[in-house]
Amino acid sequence: MTIFQQNTSLKPYNTFGIPVNARYFAKLTTAADLQELLGSDLIKTEPLLILGGGSNLLFTKDFEGLVVKVSIPGISEVITGDEVIVTAGAGVVWNDFVNYCVQHGYAGVENLSLIPGTVGASPIQNIGAYGVELKDVFESCTGMEINTGISRVFSHADCKFGYRDSIFKNELKGQYLITEVRFRLNRVAKINTQYGAIQEELAKRGIAIPTIADVSAVVAHIRVSKLPDPSTIGNAGSFFKNPVIAKAEFQKIYKEFPEVVHYQVTPGKVKLAAGWLIEQCGFKGKVVGQTGTWKSQALVLVNHGQATGQEVYSFSENIINTVEAKFGVRLEREVNIL
Ligand code: FAD
Ligand code: EPU
Repeated sequence: MTIFQQNTSLKPYNTFGIPVNARYFAKLTTAADLQELLGSDLIKTEPLLILGGGSNLLFTKDFEGLVVKVSIPGISEVITGDEVIVTAGAGVVWNDFVNYCVQHGYAGVENLSLIPGTVGASPIQNIGAYGVELKDVFESCTGMEINTGISRVFSHADCKFGYRDSIFKNELKGQYLITEVRFRLNRVAKINTQYGAIQEELAKRGIAIPTIADVSAVVAHIRVSKLPDPSTIGNAGSFFKNPVIAKAEFQKIYKEFPEVVHYQVTPGKVKLAAGWLIEQCGFKGKVVGQTGTWKSQALVLVNHGQATGQEVYSFSENIINTVEAKFGVRLEREVNIL
C-alpha cells in the first residue's frame, strides 16, 4: 500500500473549510511512511506543502503538487529535578499536548490552551496567547531537510524566534519538515496571570491561588467567548499580525486617535491592536458575500459557508487598503496564502 493519493479534497484539512484539491496527497505517520516519501519521485518533482492542522492557511486555488499531512504521534518525557523535557511528535494535536502537560502537572503551556493545529507547526510562527509564546517553553526541535533527507536538531537560538515569526518562515521557508519538538517545562508551577482577562475570570470564579488546570480552563473559556469555532464557522484565527511601529509613527496616530489600543514593546516600538484598527474602519461583524469578519473579533476573517479562498483574500486586501488609508499603517497577514 502506498501513502500517496491523487486528487484529494483539502476541505477537511483546512480550518477555513475551503474546497480545493491537492494533485497528490500523503499522510505521514510512521518512519516507514517517511522512507517512502523520501524515496519517491514526487518529492523531487512536485511543489511541496507540509500540512499540520491547516489552521493557519488560506487556499486560494487547487494545490498543483504534493501535500504531506504530518501525523507523527507520540509524547514522552524525561524528568530532572523540578524540570521536565517533554518530547512530542509533530502530528500530535497541540491541545492534546497541552492537556497531557496540564494533567501531568507540567507547567508552562497552560496559557496556550485550545490553540488549534499541531505540535510540529508550533515553532513555525512561534505561537502565542495570553502572555506566553512558544519560545518561552521551547527546548529544541528536529527537522528533516526535504532535499537531502538529513535530520538536524534546531536549538532555541537557531530558530530566531520573533513575534509570530521564526527562521522557518524566512531563510529556511519550506526547506524542513519538523518531525518532533522538545519543550522545557516546570514541575513547580510558575503561574502567569499577567493578562488582564485571565485575572478577571479567576476573580469571577473566586480562585485566589490558581493551579495550571485553573489557568487552562480560564483561557479556554475566554477563547471560546471571543473566537469562532472552526468546526462550525471556517476561520484561521487572527488573519493579520498586530502591527509593530516606530514610536514617532505611533505618536502621529495617537494625536489624532488618542483612544488607539496599543502596547509599548521596546522604548522605540509600539504594537497596535489590529482588531481595533479594523473595527474603527467599520469592518467588525461585516458580512461581504460568503466572507466577513467575526462579530466579536474583527481580526478574525470567516467563511460563512460557501466562501472561496479568492473571496476571502480579496476581502483581506480591502481591509489592508482601508486601514492604510485611515491610519497610515499597512497590516501584514499572519495566515499563509496558498
Ligand atoms: P498549518 O496551518 O497546517 O501550517 C502552518 C504553516 O506551518 C505552513 O506554512 C505549513 O507548511 C507549516 N508546517 C506545518 N506543520 C509543519 C511541520 N511539521 N514541519 C514544517 N512545516 C510545517 N495562533 C497563535 O499563535 N495564537 C493563537 O491564539 C491562535 N488562535 C487561533 C484560533 C483559531 C480559532 C484558529 C483557527 C487559529 C489560531 N491560531 C493561533 C493559528 C494556528 O492555530 C497556529 O498558527 C498553529 O500553529 C497552526 O498549526 P497547524 O498545524 O494547523 O499548521
Ligand atoms: N480589539 C478591538 N476590536 C476587535 C478586536 C480587538 O477593539 O474587534 C481590541 C480590544 O481593545 C482588545 C485588543 O484589541 O482588548 C486585543 O484583542 P484580543 O485580546 O482579542 O487580542 P488580539 O491582539 O486581537 C492576539 C493574538 C491572538 C491571541 C490573543 C490573546 C495576534 C495577531 N493575535 O489577538 O492570536 O489569541 O492575542 O493573546 O497577535 C492568532 O494568532 O491566530 C491568535 C488568535
